[in-house]
Amino acid sequence: MRLLVTGVAGFIGSNLTHALLERGHAVVGVDNLSQGERLNMASFAEHPAYEFHQEDIRDAAAMRRLVTGCDAVVHLAAYKIPRYSDALDTLRTNAHGSENMLEAALTVGAKFVAASTSDVYGKNPNVPFTEDSNLVIGNPDVKRWAYAISKMYEEQTMFAFRDRHQLRVVAMRFFGGYGPNQNLTWWGGPQSVFIDSALDDKELELHGDGSQTRSFTYVSDHVDGITRCVEMPEADDKVFNLGNTREITIRGLAELIWGMVRPGETPKIKLRPYESFGKYEDVMRRVPDITRARTLLGFEPKVDLEDGLRRTIRWQVERRRALGIATPDLPHV
Ligand SMILES: NC(=O)c1ccc[n+]([C@@H]2O[C@H](COP(=O)([O-])OP(=O)(O)OC[C@H]3O[C@@H](n4cnc5c(N)ncnc54)[C@H](O)[C@@H]3O)[C@@H](O)[C@H]2O)c1
Repeated sequence: MRLLVTGVAGFIGSNLTHALLERGHAVVGVDNLSQGERLNMASFAEHPAYEFHQEDIRDAAAMRRLVTGCDAVVHLAAYKIPRYSDALDTLRTNAHGSENMLEAALTVGAKFVAASTSDVYGKNPNVPFTEDSNLVIGNPDVKRWAYAISKMYEEQTMFAFRDRHQLRVVAMRFFGGYGPNQNLTWWGGPQSVFIDSALDDKELELHGDGSQTRSFTYVSDHVDGITRCVEMPEADDKVFNLGNTREITIRGLAELIWGMVRPGETPKIKLRPYESFGKYEDVMRRVPDITRARTLLGFEPKVDLEDGLRRTIRWQVERRRALGIATPDLPHV
């Protein structure tokens, strides 16, 4: 297949593209490099079946031009939870950008496979979440919900395109991705920041008291799930939870990472109260029910957390060195 992948220089996009090219697909990659890195594309930048275009997904004419001849669009470009800025980039990129990509896909009848997020389940306390569970948003004056709302809008727009235009669509709700090419700042998730802090022998900062839980998914498992959504007609017109079902508290994750990076040393942990973020609400539990992806697609997460973290820590050591950041040797990892 010839595939248009947006967000190709990002964490999931770069891992996915590497795998798609290995599977014999041709990839047209799009990224505006606002968050992604050229370094993430190094392993496939020169592949004969790959081309890269530094473009913005909100540029309708450019997207229409690039989608020509594509069988499917894998839409991953997005902005995440606005923790330290206002929410406009998140809302505009995810809502307008996704609608733009749908319009482009429609011009050639390309299957549209897009990233949603576990964050859409919001404050629903009833874990594990099935795809039919309620999406429960909290106080509308709290800007963190902009991310979930923008992804809900994206999902609803996809299904409206399906209903009106019979476009084939698949929405993928990812749960906590981690692994090589993850962003080294908070944008990449808590595990990324915890690894950096442990390497630097600094305190690991937990939001609230660290009792909130997440389910962390190694990137090769997400890539496998996305590939199934792209290649299998059984995925068409559905929403899928894609994630690892093991639940762990953020404190548990911090202690696990500290113990792997600095075995035998007492973890340095600092609590950051939610109030310090201004008006903020967290999601207290997040666990996927993956029965639908298991049954229809044969999806099964394979990499357990300890193994995945070991690989990620090794990668993070190498990436920091490539960026000239002083990093200790970790012969035990
Ligand atoms: N990583 C996770 O754990 C996770 C969890 C849930 C959902 N998701 C979703 O999966 C997708 C990929 O996530 P990721 O972790 O790889 O994120 P990422 O930030 O690493 O990658 C996103 C890429 O999109 C690019 N981008 C942003 N705005 C753009 C624009 N206007 N035009 C072109 N490119 C643009 C960025 O430069 C970046 O390279 C996103 O849609 C995200 O919301 C990820």
